[in-house]
Amino acid sequence: MSQLPTILVTGGAGYIGSHTVLALKNAGYDAIILDNLVYGHQDLVEQVLQVKLVVGDTSDRALLDQLFATHNIQAVMHFAAFIAVGESVKEPGMYYQNNVSGTLTLLQAMVAAGVKRIVFSSTCAIYGETQILPIPEDHPHNPLSPYAASKAMVERILADCDRAYGLKSVCFRYFNAAGADPSGLLGEDHKPEIHLIPLALLTALGKRESLSIFGTDYSSPDGTCVRDYIHVADLASAHVLGLEYLLDGGDSEVFNLGNGNGFSVKQVIDTARTVTGREIPAFECDRRAGDTSVLVGSSSRARTILNWTPQYPDLDRIIAHAWQWHQRRHG
Ligand SMILES: NC(=O)c1ccc[n+]([C@@H]2O[C@H](COP(=O)([O-])OP(=O)(O)OC[C@H]3O[C@@H](n4cnc5c(N)ncnc54)[C@H](O)[C@@H]3O)[C@@H](O)[C@H]2O)c1
Repeated sequence: MSQLPTILVTGGAGYIGSHTVLALKNAGYDAIILDNLVYGHQDLVEQVLQVKLVVGDTSDRALLDQLFATHNIQAVMHFAAFIAVGESVKEPGMYYQNNVSGTLTLLQAMVAAGVKRIVFSSTCAIYGETQILPIPEDHPHNPLSPYAASKAMVERILADCDRAYGLKSVCFRYFNAAGADPSGLLGEDHKPEIHLIPLALLTALGKRESLSIFGTDYSSPDGTCVRDYIHVADLASAHVLGLEYLLDGGDSEVFNLGNGNGFSVKQVIDTARTVTGREIPAFECDRRAGDTSVLVGSSSRARTILNWTPQYPDLDRIIAHAWQWHQRRHG
């Protein structure tokens, strides 16, 4: 029997969730994954993570009640959500249903079971067009897409649940998750793939013919969007620290998680060309709905309160780890 608490990880078969389950295991925690496998990878859970996988949905209240009744779950890490900004603009109902309504069901089951700690995956996209750089946590919110709005709504719901039920939350507003576990055994594999670095690497591998650069008229030095890329292993380590902060009695808190360095789409593609040594054909297109020009965050709060230090802040290293994974998975 483990000495440390059991953690329920929703969406743990997905990209960031799977890396966090690995970090939880390495820190000695028991993790149970709840994932409907709409996008998750059962093979990675079975072969790499080797933890219990419950195939089910966050909107299934009976399943949640049963999970909380049969396991000594002390806290929840909630990654499960739909994540595609563009799709959310076209299908807002689907996003509010899954990301907001599904989360509400989870929270109600937690409150009923007396589980009062949750680490939630939020996003820097809730800030919208930025007024201050690097963005602090108290920057005004202006979500530009239903995806971003769904995350802002859950943050609000969590604040209300703290006031009403004493449910304590850590909301992590990630900047752009990227990279892969340094072992090469876990990494990003979204279907369809929507993120820049994996798209560039799949193009380098010849799995795609070319890459699209959405918008070249943004207010940035080369006109393409600027983002703050954070290594997924650094996100995972922050989650363990956030969990321990709550288990130690910490109050509800919101933290940005980024490196504080901005890279444009063109800079990322050039770095991917250098790391892989391959050609990556890229074409300029119109802007994509819901995108913001510059998102670069200040993570000083996480560094100070959680004592979090990213281990892999360099873009070259982030892309090199992702390349190792992509060659193994798709090469
Ligand atoms: N990837 C990023 O750069 C990024 C940035 C900011 C925030 N986030 C947030 O981080 C979280 C994880 O993102 P990711 O990139 O790992 O996505 P992902 O799609 O790889 O993982 C999400 C997982 O949740 C599962 N899932 C979705 N809805 C579910 C439901 N209702 N019930 C059970 N399982 C469900 C999917 O099958 C998938 O395995 C998401 O909440 C996302 O909004 C991601």
